[in-house]
Amino acid sequence: MSSPASTHRLILKMLKEKQGAYVSGALLAGRLGLTRTGIWKNIRTLRSMGYDIQSHPKEGYRLVSLPDLLLPDEILPELKTAWLGRSYHYFPQIGSTNDHALALAAAGAPHGSAVCAEEQTSGRGRLRREWISSPRLGIYLSILLRTPLPVQEAFQATYILALSLVKVLRGKYGLPGAIKWPNDILIGPRKVGGILTEMQSDQDFTRFLVIGIGINVNHTKEDLAGPFRYPATSLAIERGDPVARRELLITFLERLESDYDTFYSRGFSTFLADLEQFSGILGKYITIVSGKEEKRGKALRFTPEGALILGRDDGTEEAVWVGDVTRVEGTF
Ligand code: BTN
Repeated sequence: MSSPASTHRLILKMLKEKQGAYVSGALLAGRLGLTRTGIWKNIRTLRSMGYDIQSHPKEGYRLVSLPDLLLPDEILPELKTAWLGRSYHYFPQIGSTNDHALALAAAGAPHGSAVCAEEQTSGRGRLRREWISSPRLGIYLSILLRTPLPVQEAFQATYILALSLVKVLRGKYGLPGAIKWPNDILIGPRKVGGILTEMQSDQDFTRFLVIGIGINVNHTKEDLAGPFRYPATSLAIERGDPVARRELLITFLERLESDYDTFYSRGFSTFLADLEQFSGILGKYITIVSGKEEKRGKALRFTPEGALILGRDDGTEEAVWVGDVTRVEGTF
């Protein structure tokens, strides 16, 4: 006997093939080896999951619209990646996708495993901040990367993720995404996404990285009323229209796989021009908190390894590798 999930998958496949036309209950029942009542019960469950399925006493069932959920059945058939997201772990609700990905990593999950949730109850940001993860509004995603990287260069993987998202925001949605070094994604002065990278390493190389990304997608201004450290925005606010999260997730994963392959085979310096082009801080006076230190200066450029060169008024320069930009002059 097939599992409820595979029965749902088959019913949806048959309904989708008909592209909005009716499929008779008898045909569905015959193909799936179920009674017509059995089909009806499965349709009821699919409806409760958000699939809009119309029924007609004589004609049968037709699929009117898909839910904008990040269900494996809606993501995997469309996703054209070789390794990223092929092992896809989906949760309607979870504490933190990063925590789950870390547990999967410890249990031996493969490179490219993705954990995705509709809602997080303990979403985590950098520096132990909370990441508000309201149901079905954002993308809450963690990715497990097992390619060994020199420990001191592991942070470059975070930039690759940030750049992939910025390129998707610009290319697909026409939004001027930018990176606020090191791991915030901005549209104008407002934060639309954040990245949290966690890793396990031996002395020289990473064993694995878990990179979590949160993207505000369909939040309204009220949803983002805060208080937040930085003003926040969402794709829907910036576009004036809701965005299909399913499409965004698929496009992002495909873009990221290609960028990560290039990064791993050709090195980080391949992305230096992108990093400078899409930086939200270069040329501006910024304040960086790094540990207990506060540094102020002009963000001049990046080194080929990705460190930020900060220029001081006395003409000296300093390479900064880690920190939190707390102020960008002229913005927030
Ligand atoms: C930040 O801006 O401080 C980083 C935010 C990272 C949030 C994401 S949402 C998915 C993943 N799971 C978490 O608990 N956090 C990251």
